[in-house]
Amino acid sequence: MARIGVTGMGTMGAALALNIADNGFEVAVHNRSPGRTRDVMADAGALSQRLKPSETLEEFIASLTAPRAVLIMVNAGAVDAVIESLIPLLEPGDLIVDAGNANFNDTRRRAKAVEDAGMLFLGVGVSGGEEGARFGPSIMVGGSSDAYAPIKDIVEAIAARFEGDPCAAFLGTDGAGHFVKTVHNGIEYADMQLIAEAYGLLRADGRALADMAALFGQWNEGALQSYLIEITSEILKSKDSETGKPIVDVILDQAGQKGTGRWTVIEALKMGQSATAIESAVAARSWSALRETRAAAEAAFPLSGETSEVSDADLEAALLAARIITYGQGMALLAAASEEFNWSLDLARVAEIWRAGCIIRSSLLDDISSAVRDGLPHEQILLAPAFASRLRETVPALRRVVTAAMSAGQSVPAMAASLSFFDTLRRARGTTDLIQAQRDFFGRHGFQRVDRDGDGFHGPWAD
Ligand SMILES: NC(=O)c1ccc[n+]([C@@H]2O[C@H](COP(=O)([O-])OP(=O)(O)OC[C@H]3O[C@@H](n4cnc5c(N)ncnc54)[C@H](OP(=O)(O)O)[C@@H]3O)[C@@H](O)[C@H]2O)c1
Repeated sequence: MARIGVTGMGTMGAALALNIADNGFEVAVHNRSPGRTRDVMADAGALSQRLKPSETLEEFIASLTAPRAVLIMVNAGAVDAVIESLIPLLEPGDLIVDAGNANFNDTRRRAKAVEDAGMLFLGVGVSGGEEGARFGPSIMVGGSSDAYAPIKDIVEAIAARFEGDPCAAFLGTDGAGHFVKTVHNGIEYADMQLIAEAYGLLRADGRALADMAALFGQWNEGALQSYLIEITSEILKSKDSETGKPIVDVILDQAGQKGTGRWTVIEALKMGQSATAIESAVAARSWSALRETRAAAEAAFPLSGETSEVSDADLEAALLAARIITYGQGMALLAAASEEFNWSLDLARVAEIWRAGCIIRSSLLDDISSAVRDGLPHEQILLAPAFASRLRETVPALRRVVTAAMSAGQSVPAMAASLSFFDTLRRARGTTDLIQAQRDFFGRHGFQRVDRDGDGFHGPWAD
């Protein structure tokens, strides 16, 4: 008998089950198609002793000790069906955990439905890919407030550790865990896009891939230290085993996406927040799908072949500035969501559990958690003294890189979006006075005045 069971023996579910077993816990395992469970058992070696396989859902539930904890790790589209088939087999007080990537609106709905049926529900974001799930992911927990206690020891045991601190935390009720995971992925989209833009500029400038790999490796020793910069260096060194060509040269330039980036942008817009760096990264992936259109457009508007000739130091500083701005947008979005959904999110803790195990882990996150603990002026990382001084040093380089890239006709949407956000935010008086005048002119929407209180004032065109 086991305290916890995992249903869904795909890439992530199998890795999580093995991680749980590796940490000394017995774990029941189940998959819709029993063949996968058999494969997992066959490959588990000594760990198979702690895995308790079942071929049917009924046997799987019967192999758990009450109160039961069932962790679901299936494709997003299958979660409702799996929950529906679990509920009749469970008892009040049992716990259902959805550990896949879910839209937090679905998680809120599911939490309510499961709680209404007398059980507990957790929506849990797991980051770190297969390797993370197997050896230590970052785990973002949300859901019924008393649901975490029964499995906290297991979750903390399997999580990544940063200087001994487990990268796992209960963050808030209903969809809080999945929302934080969604924003994590949004930041991941933007960070990947920024790195791809730097790669694009270096390639256009004629840099050899080996040089670029060395440069990214060197950056990984400095302020840009992060998992994504590290793997970029590895990727740029890698060769295709079939042709011997650099691997990046045989990969189609058409990026996939499963939805979390888009969800981040949609939720940001709904809350009147700005996630422009993430939005531009989502858009860049969507544009990448239009391969034939891009080829036709290149034929219609031939490239000039101009290079941006940016220095390595400027590119490094530009990436750092844009990364800080991106994290800033993500954190501001989390603060807004916390307010909107009454989650009381501890943003410093969020930054802390992202320091290891997850895809956006970077040296910056330790500084972000300290800045948040010290209190963010206006909820903005950009205004925290430590980050403000880094931005004063690095934004001039971001400006030079964006300017040079644009002059040379190179595409840098995420860098440009970060810079525009920065330039808009740091202007005490902007240009929306004119927007308000236009709105009043054609729609009599009224405006506020700088010289007196109240609203609903109109321009002379209303006379
Ligand atoms: N891969 C990653 O790096 C990663 C990272 C973080 C989060 N996630 C999330 O983790 C979840 C699982 O991803 P994965 O990569 O492990 O997927 P996967 O390898 O494709 O496995 C999918 C699993 O879902 C099961 N499934 C599909 N439809 C089902 C249904 N109608 N009823 C019951 N089971 C069903 C499959 O069972 P069968 O064998 O019977 O088809 C299989 O066990 C997803 O939400 C994903 O977004 C993935």
